[in-house]
Amino acid sequence: MKALIAGCGYVGTELGVQLAREGHQVWGLKRDPSTLPPEIHGIQADLLAPGLTSRLPPVDGVVYAASAGGSSPDAYQAIYVEGVKAILAGLKEREGPPVRRFVFVSSTGVYGDSGGAWVDEETPIDDQNFRSRFLGQGEALVLESGIPATVLRLGGIYGPGRTRLLERVREGQARCPGDGPIWSNRIHRDDAARAIQHLLTLPAPKPIYLGVDDEPAPLCQVYRTLAGYLDAPEPVIDPDASRRRSNKRCSNRRLRASGFSFTYPSFREGYRAMIADGA
Ligand SMILES: NC(=O)c1ccc[n+]([C@@H]2O[C@H](COP(=O)([O-])OP(=O)(O)OC[C@H]3O[C@@H](n4cnc5c(N)ncnc54)[C@H](OP(=O)(O)O)[C@@H]3O)[C@@H](O)[C@H]2O)c1
Repeated sequence: MKALIAGCGYVGTELGVQLAREGHQVWGLKRDPSTLPPEIHGIQADLLAPGLTSRLPPVDGVVYAASAGGSSPDAYQAIYVEGVKAILAGLKEREGPPVRRFVFVSSTGVYGDSGGAWVDEETPIDDQNFRSRFLGQGEALVLESGIPATVLRLGGIYGPGRTRLLERVREGQARCPGDGPIWSNRIHRDDAARAIQHLLTLPAPKPIYLGVDDEPAPLCQVYRTLAGYLDAPEPVIDPDASRRRSNKRCSNRRLRASGFSFTYPSFREGYRAMIADGA
């Protein structure tokens, strides 16, 4: 396969390395490609600037994994709507082989607070907040583009180098919400990259998949487990800690049924591996 990763950052770089290791040719597009590893051909381009079409290589697989880089409505609209429009238009205009699969990396942030209930691909997205609205618009653009496409909604990504939670627990700064469990949903970076690769080649994928590990976990349970691994202080209960949390349990049943299996089926395996590696 010849693959383009548009927005080749934390997950995209791991994906590119995995694809290259298996003999695929990989291009990584970002504004500053200087830190990409040598096996990924860097393309210096801004998804939001004119002239994108001429920068697109002749690929048959495309992954859109750009992030907003800010939390304002404008930042979300720019990357998840305008950037998506630009790359879809560029792919249609450019010469070269047809794109056989486009994977749009979205987020489980499209769901609102479900009070801890299970959500899956059939659950309606939350149209009350701009983040889910713009992500949903990007998903729809891709799915209605005429290019064979699928959407992967990732949970919170953690893994090598993303050690903020471990640091907070180690410093005794992780606070347990006080009023019942607040469920959290995660995926290790390497499994996120493997899931994208799986969807790039899966025959007849469904339009949408949730990319989360097997075990939604109450935040406090995560903090206590990590504190145990790190020999850190027991996390304290703070009633304010539950504010602005989206409480839901995301199901990975569809992704698993498609034949995908996890290297890190829960936060336990993932964080233990990180700690063993010195995080
Ligand atoms: N982080 C999470 O926990 C999480 C959870 C759910 C879903 N997601 C989604 O998963 C995807 C990948 O996340 P990630 O953690 O790998 O993100 P990331 O490390 O921030 O990588 C995204 C890349 O996009 C590039 N980019 C941003 N704006 C661009 C533009 N205008 N033109 C070209 N490239 C641009 C950035 O590189 P340059 O700055 O060099 O351009 C960056 O390296 C994103 O769609 C994100 O929304 C993330």
